Amino acid sequence: MSEPLKLAILISGNGSNLQSIIDAIETGGLNAQIKTVVSSNNMAYGLIRATRHGLSTWVIDHHDYQNRDQYDGALQHYLESVGIDYVVLAGFMRILGPAIIKAFEHRILNIHPSLLPAYKGLNTHQRVLHDKATHHGVSIHLVTAKLDDGPIICQARYPIEAGDRVEDLQAKGHRLEHQMYPQVLRWLSDGKLGVEEGRLFYEKALLERPIAFNP
Ligand code: GRF
Repeated sequence: MSEPLKLAILISGNGSNLQSIIDAIETGGLNAQIKTVVSSNNMAYGLIRATRHGLSTWVIDHHDYQNRDQYDGALQHYLESVGIDYVVLAGFMRILGPAIIKAFEHRILNIHPSLLPAYKGLNTHQRVLHDKATHHGVSIHLVTAKLDDGPIICQARYPIEAGDRVEDLQAKGHRLEHQMYPQVLRWLSDGKLGVEEGRLFYEKALLERPIAFNP
């Protein structure tokens, strides 16, 4: 078996996606090692999840830094010192600046609760309901300097049903996210998914459109 994929998982809150990755590793379904869990918030429940599973954690609070450059610089320095293959954003509520994105170019993944490029940014569930959209979804993409804009690896799509509220969409999205993030990381760890100069390859073929995730 090849070397485990070395990950840093960045969170700000509940950490249910973190949990799904931990579970996939612990049950032997993902050949990866979580080298660190970084939180922008010292009250994040995800930190408790990490500690319960014996993982190293680090909190980086923006109140302790004068500006975004200093914050990103400290985060970059820390991640470089840990030594990782991929940075996995899992509900991390800080926007990363261009320097740290460049330092980990094409090695930062994000999960976003919409069918990108639709509904970038925050409050996606409220916005799709307001627009009376018929479908919604989840995307996993590579992070580039433009918000929620990098190459999309994988998407899951689900219907919005009459009477669905924000919490319903959140629950539907999360159910998919918890299978999708471990799956994408599995593709990376077993070499099925590759990134070359920002272009995505799946089983050696250029990925021309996002992989449709069907659980
Ligand atoms: C997820 O819905 C994800 O799409 C978004 O932030 C949320 C994080 O949830 N980026 P959790 O902290 O993993 O439970």
